[in-house]
Amino acid sequence: MPNKNQFDVLIIGSGAAGLMSAIQLTDKVSIAVIAKDKILEGSSYYAQGGISAVLDPKDDFNSHISDTINTGFNLGNEDRIRFMVEQAPIAISDLENAGVNFSLKGKNYDLTTEGGHSAKRVAHVDDKIGQSIQVNLLAQVKKRTNITLFEQHLAVDLLINEGECNGAFVFDKKTKQVTPFISNKTILATGGASKSYLYTSNPDTSTGDGIAMAYRAGCEIVNMEFTQFHPTCLFHPHAKSFLISETLRGEGAKLLLPNGKEFMHNYDERLELAPRDIVARAIDHEMKVHGFECVYLDISFKDSDWISNRFPTITERCKELGIDICSEAIPVVPAAHYTCGGVNTDIDAQSNIKNLYAVGEVAHTGVHGANRMASNSLLECIVFATSCAKHINKSTLDDSLPHTYTWDASRVEPSREKVVITQLWHEVRRIMWNFVGIVRSDSRLKSAHFKIEQISKEVNEYYSLYTVTYDMIELRNLVQTSKIIVESALSRKESRGLHFNQDYPNQLDETLNTVIIKS
Ligand code: FAD
Ligand code: SIN
Repeated sequence: MPNKNQFDVLIIGSGAAGLMSAIQLTDKVSIAVIAKDKILEGSSYYAQGGISAVLDPKDDFNSHISDTINTGFNLGNEDRIRFMVEQAPIAISDLENAGVNFSLKGKNYDLTTEGGHSAKRVAHVDDKIGQSIQVNLLAQVKKRTNITLFEQHLAVDLLINEGECNGAFVFDKKTKQVTPFISNKTILATGGASKSYLYTSNPDTSTGDGIAMAYRAGCEIVNMEFTQFHPTCLFHPHAKSFLISETLRGEGAKLLLPNGKEFMHNYDERLELAPRDIVARAIDHEMKVHGFECVYLDISFKDSDWISNRFPTITERCKELGIDICSEAIPVVPAAHYTCGGVNTDIDAQSNIKNLYAVGEVAHTGVHGANRMASNSLLECIVFATSCAKHINKSTLDDSLPHTYTWDASRVEPSREKVVITQLWHEVRRIMWNFVGIVRSDSRLKSAHFKIEQISKEVNEYYSLYTVTYDMIELRNLVQTSKIIVESALSRKESRGLHFNQDYPNQLDETLNTVIIKS
């Protein structure tokens, strides 16, 4: 009997990367887009700052390319960066065609700047670019009769047969059943892994599922030591994961110590607009040396109407929490924000497994190197989702997928000990924060490795004994990804970009990407 969930293309994830892939695919193929939460939930929706592109006649591609290479500490792949940068104006038009209305200054884009950019090239939609992209892309997806959306559907593992990907096993949150989704082509668009850390700017979806699934399937996982910590997340007991956009600093906001003194001049001549790794380490240093709980970001010297028009989301959220950003400085701390590494892909987003692609934050395309430049992530999502779709549009689809897959639940029983999952979840995120954070050392990394190895054994045993649940699947992935991050960090014997190890404080003259493959 044919499988009821059989599609030409299965897209796992409905962020900017997943939805853009869907609308760039031809309407001649059947497409399933699955999302483990609501369709709009994911990092993309919360993006604030903007998307980078050379749109000002005074700016040029070479400058965007060299800023990206420099911010990535020369580890980025220049050809890929050139490709992304040259496609950026097309990506902006594609978004406009989908309905995104960028903020304008007169008839031109109201371009702003962020850390690492030497020109104004960040196009924005007030402070809610992500919401605008997601709502408009989803509206386009809903117009296509060849695309079926499945929300609350969590991919568990990829279906691999003779080195080829045939789809994924998928857990339906409502029925709690796992069924195979069979596909000719599978696109991982599952986002990053910042939930591996106790404090993060990311929503709950960022548990590294795609990276863990790809690793288990035999993919190359590259440069996972480079977790980006955003310097300015709101510090407030009732605010979970709320970002204070770098574009505030782009518009002149100052970082202050609790006594009101500026400090960035002690760290970098670019001050508040130094790349994120430098600003985050500076804040971390000030907090640790002086025992501060947070530092402050001040934009209150600007006109109040200008602030609330330019940053409506941030003004409103802070106001709900009793902070008036027009008259006082905002308490901020660094938090895990972005996964620079991921599933290794080529320029068409193909992984090393046949018929398996990866796009967006889950992928390692080579454009970020050792540190992602601000607003290059949405750009990467749109550009590589497009090249992925174009590659699939050109390929012949095999209509005789012969494989039947059955989820075997005959040897497991429901667990009565859910507390195990909660306990291990908190443990691993705390270990990552304390031992694999902004500043690292070999002894802390080794200790983290030992502890996470133990947790991993417990999780695998639990997984083999009990009926799968949503939380268990996420925990298994979170632990797997954390282990890869630690192993990658241990193997890099230098400090570069986001990876700073006190035992190897210098940068090597020559270096390579870190590649982890399942043995
Ligand atoms: P996401 O948008 O995270 O989407 C992942 C999708 O995968 C979700 O639909 C999720 O449900 C699904 N998923 C995950 N695992 C599974 C599974 N096992 N099964 C099924 N579905 C699954 N970048 C910029 O360039 N500019 C910015 O201004 C900017 N601001 C940001 C602000 C915030 C607060 C954050 C958190 C990030 C920001 N970034 C920004 C980074 C950027 O938003 C993200 O890197 C990018 O949106 C990632 O898109 P994505 O499609 O790869 O993943
Ligand atoms: C921000 O608005 O500060 C986030 C921008 C980004 O992550 O690129």
